[in-house]
Amino acid sequence: MRRLGRPATIGACALAVALVAVAAYSAAGGGRRAEIAAGRALYAAHCASCHGADLEGQPEWQRTLPSGRMPAPPHDASGHTDYG
Ligand code: HEC
Repeated sequence: MRRLGRPATIGACALAVALVAVAAYSAAGGGRRAEIAAGRALYAAHCASCHGADLEGQPEWQRTLPSGRMPAPPHDASGHTDYG
């Protein structure tokens, strides 16, 4: 009985570990989706007015304004300036 019990126990443990791993993976995925959605909303509220709704930046963003300041640059997928 003990000899049969051990593989069954190991099997049950492996199954439990696999289920926990799957649960953790889905939870992480769900959390990431929520973070991305929150980031989208924050960008629209606080950044899009200058950097553009589609990350396009301001017109002629590489040209210094008469004020001596720079227009907002377009963003690439990493959030940095898209020098294109
Ligand atoms: C009032 C206009 C304005 C708003 C609003 C604004 N930016 Fe900017 N942003 C600029 C300008 C102008 C520059 C370029 C500054 C320079 O060249 O000196 C810049 C530069 C950047 C850069 C540097 C690009 C790089 O390559 O590292 C990042 C990143 C950035 N902004 C992100 C954001 C984020 C994120 C938000 C919203 C939370 C935001 N900006 C809101 C005007 C704005």
